[in-house]
Amino acid sequence: MNLAVIGAGVIGMSCAWRAAAVAGLAVTVIDPAPASGASWVAGGMLAPVTEAWPGEEELLDIGVASVDRWPEFAAALAEAGGRDAGLRTDGTVVAATGSGDRDELEQLATYLGTLGRPVERLTGRELRKVEPALGPEVRGGLCVPDDLAVDNRQLLDALRAACEKNGVRFVERAARRVHDDGSRVTGVRTDGEDVPAEAVLISAGAWSAALHPLLDGLVRPVKGEILRLAHRRSAVPPPRRTVRALVDGRPVYAVPRDGGGLVIGATQYETGFDTEVTVGGVRDLLRDAERVLPGISEFALVESAAGLRPGSVDNLPLIGRLGPDGLLVATGHGRNGMLLAPVTADAVLALLHDEPLPGPAAAADPVRFTAVATARR
Ligand code: GLY
Repeated sequence: MNLAVIGAGVIGMSCAWRAAAVAGLAVTVIDPAPASGASWVAGGMLAPVTEAWPGEEELLDIGVASVDRWPEFAAALAEAGGRDAGLRTDGTVVAATGSGDRDELEQLATYLGTLGRPVERLTGRELRKVEPALGPEVRGGLCVPDDLAVDNRQLLDALRAACEKNGVRFVERAARRVHDDGSRVTGVRTDGEDVPAEAVLISAGAWSAALHPLLDGLVRPVKGEILRLAHRRSAVPPPRRTVRALVDGRPVYAVPRDGGGLVIGATQYETGFDTEVTVGGVRDLLRDAERVLPGISEFALVESAAGLRPGSVDNLPLIGRLGPDGLLVATGHGRNGMLLAPVTADAVLALLHDEPLPGPAAAADPVRFTAVATARR
């Protein structure tokens, strides 16, 4: 079977690699600029627990299923492509500054405890013993060793290599629409060649909704800005773990990279397809990050960037069949694209084998939306 995958971000390339390597399909990936977009900008947290939010238990379950798969996924990827996948297993600390922030973290810890996911509560002093880069304004927090991180750019490089070694073809064109003959998909029209295919996966992130009317209103861009810092010899050492923090109620995070780098993120705005970095965004990130990690004032600021997360209506991704036979979707991963790549690739493999969505991924089936349910009848 031929599979066309629209979108060469982390989700598209993970699915393309697994479909070629495990299912033995002839796979073509269509993207005008592979490995760009939200995947290129991402901080790389693999953090189902510290991203958890009361009322989003299904997302937490999918996230935990995926973070558990990450070490095996990274090892298989390194073997397939010969490049390190960039997984970091040092864990995560969450820091609170003011008393309101401490109350909020306490609520998160209690909530996670009721779900059977205990986290370790630490005082400010205990947290500084674990991560000496934390400053005196940190009054307490949590230690979450199982929330991991990945170097997003290493990962994209490893995915591209694994795809190519497994015969995946890349067509560097913009996909315009998916063709069908009334009952089955037949291929993808691009701004150049048409790509014939017996199965099509729409995994174009924030751009997915434009590719099929059934996705109208189900996926939207959610802008996020990040900063990249580099350690300088005179500066204090960076943290080893991912540091998440609440600063007067505002969330900020710092994700370490090899060689002393840090990715500081992320703002969140609903401003359509705007990818300009704003002065206010940079100011807010630096102000809040510096209150938690004061030593970063001596780091070099080497990059600012904005990406568009594919937000869904209910914050769950959309992974499943759409209307015509052979048409699949894997998008709407919001803040969690890196985290959910392994579970999404497994789910798409199951769909390609005409099997049901495995385990907690069943909650991501777009059949929960009326338009998709009607089209699939
Ligand atoms: N994964 C965190 C973010 O999107 O900012």
